[in-house]
Amino acid sequence: MPVLLDVRGVTLQYKTPQHLVTATYKVDFEVHESDRYVILGPSGCGKSTLLKAIGGFMRPVEGTIRIRGRTVEGPGPDRMMVFQEFEQLMPWKTVLQNVLFPMRVTGKFNSRESEERALAAIDKVKLTKFHDVYPHMLSGGMKMRVAIARAMALEPDVLLMDEPFAALDALTRRKMQEELLGLWDQLRFTVLFVTHSIEEAVIIGSRILVLSPHPGRVRAELAADHLLAGDIDKPAFGLLSKRIHGLLFEEEIEPAEEVEA
Ligand SMILES: Nc1ncnc2c1ncn2[C@@H]1O[C@H](COP(=O)(O)OP(=O)(O)OP(=O)(O)O)[C@@H](O)[C@H]1O
Ligand SMILES: [Mg+2]
Repeated sequence: MPVLLDVRGVTLQYKTPQHLVTATYKVDFEVHESDRYVILGPSGCGKSTLLKAIGGFMRPVEGTIRIRGRTVEGPGPDRMMVFQEFEQLMPWKTVLQNVLFPMRVTGKFNSRESEERALAAIDKVKLTKFHDVYPHMLSGGMKMRVAIARAMALEPDVLLMDEPFAALDALTRRKMQEELLGLWDQLRFTVLFVTHSIEEAVIIGSRILVLSPHPGRVRAELAADHLLAGDIDKPAFGLLSKRIHGLLFEEEIEPAEEVEA
């Protein structure tokens, strides 16, 4: 399968008047179509910074980021960010107006086309009956579906999600994970999902990139496609989690290596 997103030798830095902070160091990975690609690593290892760079909001000081072979040079509708708590939804706009908003901003489609696409995206996430209600009238899971419809309406190559469930209680979080997987089953979008929870990484990920502590380097990439939320009590789930735990907490910084799950 062709590579959709190619991150090659990417070093990211913040320059402040006093400091030079290296957020990631020579990170390599590839995302293929319909991957549920998880970036996992401890706080401060540069996960959000990597997503920012992939989103086009920051340039690598070294290395390249390519989408379908084109080097990322700025933000674009081919990479849509879904934020924590779906705070991008505007409370004074209905579901349909929320989905329409970014389409109008990008000017990619005319207004009739935008409306058709927005309604189709709302239908895909099974919210047709709710297209004219306001976000506060929806459950958390429904809000997530709106946020995903909003992104999907622009037909992005990849959805970028930065710890979207981090602020939720454990039960709600599990429900949202299942909801996301259910949607993925149906729509097969490509998602790049950042988390610092090992359990969430194993549930969500088809592949998991494990980063070292600050500055983030690749420790390993693991396959996790065979394990979902329902498998949490299975030995294979525990084994993979343990292996990831070992990788996250190992002291020596090893060069990037490929590990089969
Ligand atoms: N705007 C900024 N200016 C300077 N340094 C920054 C800035 N944003 C992040 N950093 C630094 O870059 C490093 C990586 O930060 P980043 O937010 O990408 O980590 P993270 O892996 O997303 O962490 P978390 O899991 O806590 O969200 C950290 O050392 C952080 O202090
Ligand atoms: Mg972060």
